Amino acid sequence: MPTIAIVGAGPGMGLAIARTFGAQGFDVALVARNKEKLDGLVARLGAEGVTAAAFTADVLDRASLTAALAAAADRFGGIDVLEYSPAPQVSDPALAPVPPTAASPENLQSQIEYYLYGGVAAAQAVLPAMREAGAGTLLFTTGGGSVNPIPMLGNVNAAAAALRNWVLNLHNELTGSGIYAAHVAIGVWIGEGGPAGFPSASAEEIAPLYWDLYAKRDQAETVFLG
Ligand SMILES: NC(=O)c1ccc[n+]([C@@H]2O[C@H](COP(=O)([O-])OP(=O)(O)OC[C@H]3O[C@@H](n4cnc5c(N)ncnc54)[C@H](OP(=O)(O)O)[C@@H]3O)[C@@H](O)[C@H]2O)c1
Repeated sequence: MPTIAIVGAGPGMGLAIARTFGAQGFDVALVARNKEKLDGLVARLGAEGVTAAAFTADVLDRASLTAALAAAADRFGGIDVLEYSPAPQVSDPALAPVPPTAASPENLQSQIEYYLYGGVAAAQAVLPAMREAGAGTLLFTTGGGSVNPIPMLGNVNAAAAALRNWVLNLHNELTGSGIYAAHVAIGVWIGEGGPAGFPSASAEEIAPLYWDLYAKRDQAETVFLG
């Protein structure tokens, strides 16, 4: 069975991507910080016939991330697809969004740690085995503001744009290697309860595009606008 590892696996995109790949015969490694919440997702997937397992890690603690992905590779015999999409709680003061005029090295640093450094660390944990196999897929998710920034997300968008830039160049470098890298920018609110006037879509509506990227392997990026 091929395996997808989802870093930042929660009830929204994480679960929907797990279901999408699980329905195609993938085993699923779910990586996030909270074991209880992960176990709940593993049980839900299991009830739907998808084999999944939970691995705890914090993307801000890069050693824990590397260890979790190594454990997932051990458990499933390798990782064929890495998907990176942690989403911070809006209430987390350490990762609070600020507009560009309020950006500082400090409040940019925390976002860079979260998006760019976390994404790079996740990729570095799985790349050596993918290099050896001459095969693999690396998918990274950010918001639409990584492409078209909006003032209220000044520091978030800058860090997400840094991850996006690195992924697009990773795609360039890996072309012809058998390993495929791509970026997904989600330019809508996921689920219910978004800001008035802002477009929204369900995670289930968005998730098939990850399978399309994986299957077609011909784009460095998809921007989902609904
Ligand atoms: N939600 C939106 O409206 C929206 C809009 C545009 C783009 N996006 C992007 O879409 C992706 C998925 O978003 P989603 O809201 O659907 O998320 P989700 O898959 O429902 O959940 C993401 C999970 O990330 C985990 N997480 C948070 N901080 C972490 C950390 N430091 N280390 C490891 N895991 C961490 C959380 O679980 P734990 O608490 O267990 O760690 C959370 O449940 C993200 O890339 C996000 O940037 C979201």
